[in-house]
Amino acid sequence: MTGSSDISVLICRLLLPAGRDLLAAEGYELREGGLDVTAERLRDLAPGCAAIVADPTVPIGPDLLDAAGDDLRVVANFAVGYDNVDLDACRERGVVVTNTPGVLTNATAEIALGLTVATARRAHEAEDLLREGRWTGWDPGAMLGLELSDATFGVIGMGRIGRRYAELIRPLAGELLYTSRSGNPDAEEALGAIKVELEELLERSDVVSLHAPGGEATRHMIAAAELERMKGHAVLVNTSRGTLVDSSALAQALQAGEIGAAGLDVFENEPRVPQELLDAPRCVLYPHIGSATHTSRDGMASLAARNAIAVVSGDEPLNPVA
Ligand code: DGY
Repeated sequence: MTGSSDISVLICRLLLPAGRDLLAAEGYELREGGLDVTAERLRDLAPGCAAIVADPTVPIGPDLLDAAGDDLRVVANFAVGYDNVDLDACRERGVVVTNTPGVLTNATAEIALGLTVATARRAHEAEDLLREGRWTGWDPGAMLGLELSDATFGVIGMGRIGRRYAELIRPLAGELLYTSRSGNPDAEEALGAIKVELEELLERSDVVSLHAPGGEATRHMIAAAELERMKGHAVLVNTSRGTLVDSSALAQALQAGEIGAAGLDVFENEPRVPQELLDAPRCVLYPHIGSATHTSRDGMASLAARNAIAVVSGDEPLNPVA
């Protein structure tokens, strides 16, 4: 498809946090594809657009789909996760849903690795000590943390990002345990990963890293009972979705010293972070920056745009999820 058309595409967000113009990336591809770009915030949604390029902070449900009207053909989510999209409501209305797998795998696994090291070695606590002028000098007993070499790592969810995280920590890990719905023979062969039940993984791991998708099926898969199973020094890392963890139970486990530390990049009701987590000891908190690299966000913008173009052009989407 070349030249402009009267098909409009709604992009939910104009600016990337770094100040880079998302429209420049997505809009370029969309214009190449011959589509007019209506860069409006979602609340300004007017009926008649053929595609919505949404991001994971935008809930796409029946009301919004009905407001968009019959011209809507595709919701191209600007994320690999799509728990913000009501897939059934889209299917019922014949609206295709796509995501952006692959292009953010490295960036997200790297943040999980960073959180793992930062939490295990109490890096933020130590930096606060220094910045706040409380550091009185080298002390053989101060800021002792968990050594990661030869630690047992537990990876919950061995999809693309879990697999990449496992690859990154493999040189450090002693045992590498994982859970996954379908199993990952490649990770077993290439990385020596061992598939176990969730309970066993929690009981044996020194580091537990979450890489399962969000949604009802995984909601609060880590709650009080699961935290109780973890070792007293164990570190919990979550770069997947905040809904996987019962944050109240986690805050209590940290307060009670039931687990060693937690590193979180995602929260249940972003951007709200529960006060009890802010108050919890040994808890490192990042503002959902897993995929926040230039490479990753450019790739996501491009994939989202190409998916939208494909569907409104009558072609097969690259990354359909519904
Ligand atoms: C995703 O793509 O699902 C991420 O959470 C966005 O960073």
